[in-house]
Amino acid sequence: MSEGGVRPRPEGLIIAVDGPSGAGKSTITRLLSQRLGYLYIDTGAMYRAVALAVRRAGVSPDDDAALVAVCRGVEISFVRTNGCCQVLLNGEDVSAAIRTPEISMLTSRISARMVVRDVMVRLQRELGKNGGVILEGRDIGTVVFPDADLKFFLSASVDERGRRRYLELKGKGEDVLLERTIAEVAQRDEQDSRREHAPLRRADDAVDIDSTGLSIEEVVALMEGIIKEKLAASH
Ligand code: DC
Repeated sequence: MSEGGVRPRPEGLIIAVDGPSGAGKSTITRLLSQRLGYLYIDTGAMYRAVALAVRRAGVSPDDDAALVAVCRGVEISFVRTNGCCQVLLNGEDVSAAIRTPEISMLTSRISARMVVRDVMVRLQRELGKNGGVILEGRDIGTVVFPDADLKFFLSASVDERGRRRYLELKGKGEDVLLERTIAEVAQRDEQDSRREHAPLRRADDAVDIDSTGLSIEEVVALMEGIIKEKLAASH
């Protein structure tokens, strides 16, 4: 291991960004990946795509055998177009279909099943193993890449996260209520943190970033500075 604890990887660092929903992980991680020229992997989108496939197959989220069959039958990929990442499920662009409140709730349920996590974690390790990658999710620094070169835990107050999600859904023309959206974010936090397998947990060696009251640009600049320091320490 070289100075600063960074192992040489063929294509750059492995950076983990974990935290609860609505903390700004997707927007911030996407911007960081563009600035660094790194691959961006939205692991939440992978679980969401599986949830959509489960819904379409009419399978119960509690039926492990059926869940395994669905997982094995899906091909999930990402395409970058004009700086925006599309999520493909068996070649179909499902970027919008996976972001409805119904699919969010179903995703929270199926992502608690070990059989689903096994398949996804294996895929995520394969995608990130060469480095030059920034992955965001709930268990990247604790389970998927416990030896990641740099780990962030990105959070914000539940009210602020609920408000951001509300504005995002409203902007897409969804019929939503602020109070209800905040309650749903709190409910998903609860489900994601209390589940038996790979619960949302801050890795002991993660850098804490609280985005409450900060602009996206401020958070990106803060994290980029920390990444640059790590890169400098590795040379
Ligand atoms: O980040 P997101 O809101 O798109 O994630 C959707 C759901 O997937 C959320 O309920 C938590 C779950 N998830 C997970 O269990 N593990 C991950 N690495 C990423 C997301």
